[in-house]
Amino acid sequence: DKAGYKHFMAKEIAEQPTVLADALSAYLDGDRIEIPATALDFTKVDRLVLVACGTAYYACLTAKYWFEKLARLPVEVDVASEFRYREPPVLPGTVALFVSQSGETADTLAALRYCRDKADSIVSVVNVETSSIARESDLALPIHAGVEIGVASTKAFTCQLNVLLLLAIKAASERGHMDAADKAALLTQLRALPGLFNATLDRDGTMEAAAQKIAEARDVLFLGRGLMYPIAYEGALKLKEISYIHAEAYASGELKHGPIALIDKTVPVIVMAPHDGLFDKTVSNMQEVMARGGKICLVTDARGAAEAGEGVWQVITLPEVDDRLAPLLYALPAQLLAYHAAVAKGTDVDQPRNLAKSVTVE
Ligand code: F6R
Repeated sequence: DKAGYKHFMAKEIAEQPTVLADALSAYLDGDRIEIPATALDFTKVDRLVLVACGTAYYACLTAKYWFEKLARLPVEVDVASEFRYREPPVLPGTVALFVSQSGETADTLAALRYCRDKADSIVSVVNVETSSIARESDLALPIHAGVEIGVASTKAFTCQLNVLLLLAIKAASERGHMDAADKAALLTQLRALPGLFNATLDRDGTMEAAAQKIAEARDVLFLGRGLMYPIAYEGALKLKEISYIHAEAYASGELKHGPIALIDKTVPVIVMAPHDGLFDKTVSNMQEVMARGGKICLVTDARGAAEAGEGVWQVITLPEVDDRLAPLLYALPAQLLAYHAAVAKGTDVDQPRNLAKSVTVE
């Protein structure tokens, strides 16, 4: 039931404030994160290996920044199809963590089985709690996204990010890198995030207008730095899979190492950049693009919009958000730009060509 929405994807995007609030209440008892220490004690962990495919892989890439920065825990991230055949050494002290909405993705399951007798423990972050990946894990953490029908993952992505962030906060506090006051402050911000999701969804009109122009392009670039780097990748994946527009993502700093050759007035460059400590660097990347006739669509906050300077093609202004939580909020414009571009092109949004919801063969 699409509940009055034109597509399941639109419904699932719109559900995110409610679903995130529910997921948070499932995991939080005051400032206590309810993941049993008996099942996962971060003081005994030397490193994490995060493995997944597609959108779930971008959730892992985001989590790498959180675990490393907040918890000072070394993290390796890999796509499951590469990990499983490379047969990497998995040393004692390693927790192997697998992220999968369906819990049935063949490559992710094979990677999990490869780690079975090598890692200290196997943790999974899943939506389907009865899935193979959940059943074969020592600890399966549900994301509580509810059933996701649209082939393009949306609410599952933000809910994956949520559980991974809670794990990183738990790791940071257990490892002595976050005191109780900092933890309480961050959790307060996190509890406010569903409200910021709503405020972002209220600005859907600006995203729809931008997407209708982006839909005219043949090629689109996405740029992001730090925590926005994986979100740029997720934006490019969403756009190509449902609108069939060719999209590529790069770390902003990589622009001058090659992709800048692509810049001209026909290639919109979508820059995901809240006004954080790296914003000045992003402004200089944007100037490099604009100096070559490139068109910038900047997704930022009010301070970023004020400091972006002249010449930006389109600005999408989101509410201010704690830097550490920005990936969850900026996932929404990534989804909505793709959604509206696909609607403008008239593609089958919920059932894009050649794609399956669950990839159970490699
Ligand atoms: C993209 C998308 C896919 C999945 C990938 C992994 O929108 O949905 O990239 O994220 O196939 O699927 P799960 O999470 O079920 O393992």
